[in-house]
Amino acid sequence: MKISIQNLQLKYGDFVAIENLNLDIGDGEALVLLGQSGCGKTSTMRCLAGLEEPSAGRIIIDDVVVFDSERGINLPPNKRNVGMVFQSYAVWPHMTVFQNVAYSLNLQKLSKNEVKERVTEVLTMVGLEKFADRGASLLSGGQMQRVALARSLVMRPSVLMLDEPLSNLDARLRDRLRVELREIQLRLGLTCVYVTHDQHEAFALADRIALLQGGKIVQIGGPREMYETPASASIAHFLGVSNVMDCEAVAGGDGSSSATVAGHDFTVHSSQRIPSGTRQMKVCMRAEDLQISAQPKTAANAWKGKVMVAGFQGNDVRYAVELDSGLELDALGTIKRGEQHDVGDSVWVTIEPGQVQILPAEVLA
Ligand SMILES: Nc1ncnc2c1ncn2[C@@H]1O[C@H](COP(=O)(O)OP(=O)(O)OP(=O)(O)O)[C@@H](O)[C@H]1O
Ligand SMILES: [Mg+2]
Repeated sequence: MKISIQNLQLKYGDFVAIENLNLDIGDGEALVLLGQSGCGKTSTMRCLAGLEEPSAGRIIIDDVVVFDSERGINLPPNKRNVGMVFQSYAVWPHMTVFQNVAYSLNLQKLSKNEVKERVTEVLTMVGLEKFADRGASLLSGGQMQRVALARSLVMRPSVLMLDEPLSNLDARLRDRLRVELREIQLRLGLTCVYVTHDQHEAFALADRIALLQGGKIVQIGGPREMYETPASASIAHFLGVSNVMDCEAVAGGDGSSSATVAGHDFTVHSSQRIPSGTRQMKVCMRAEDLQISAQPKTAANAWKGKVMVAGFQGNDVRYAVELDSGLELDALGTIKRGEQHDVGDSVWVTIEPGQVQILPAEVLA
């Protein structure tokens, strides 16, 4: 089932929560809306589901125009065949797991047998078949989240929308359910809109990610593409790049570039071309791309410095290194590669020019 969102705008009073949003989601595609708190993810979802009336635009779900401001069309939620799973999974505690999932089917006056068949089918799908008769209040958080998911799936929605459905769970369970969710989505070929502010969740679940900032989509693409070629420094930062600094960028003759950081005797070389225009630029380097060594280094990008902080993380150590220029860099050392140093140690920090990105601070409006 395809979804097409055209020129969508949503205002709360004078406040524009969604500004002219255009997005096409393909049949069977998992599209993740990613962005920081308040950027308009839930609002976009509520417009799709019919829980919010947009101020302008058009929404088409499976060739049916469900909203069109110009033609005065606004189908209610129950006419859109959209399933929703929310962050706060309101399962009914006084009912069993089976009853929770069967609830909406019973309203459709299906035969008892058919209800039993469909409920059993989805409970098996989410791994809760053994819990059918258990009271819903006697479940763990992860199990309750599955009940919420089963309740949506049992209605056989053409589109499934999930708004931060895993955020109440602990990290390990979240990792596991994330994988299971993706499996179910692929197995059923469900068109899925998934909202999160967690980039790892987005990377794991998405066919494509739409990155929202201030009610606008600033970049859209596959997880790998988004990770490797963020369109701006602020997107890179949001996706976990920890070394982001204002810089003066200079283009080299051979398609390379370099950047200096004002106030510091610090130059970094990049093998990438800088985007044209005279915008504020920032240099971006991932902590894991920085190498740190006790031996002196001579490379295009090699700086001497001192370890200020060494945070043990199991397999890795997170370092803050103060360079002789006064700049502080965040670096990730891998213990197995022998990149282990103590606070106060003199070290050399290097990075390949191919891993340095010089990006505009923000995407142009
Ligand atoms: N009913 C409302 N009235 C007024 N402003 C609202 C209303 N609902 C949301 N907003 C505002 O609209 C903006 C977008 O809200 P939205 O809930 O879509 O954000 P979000 O991306 O889902 O954030 P989060 O990650 O925190 O859930 C926010 O600035 C929010 O304060
Ligand atoms: Mg939200």
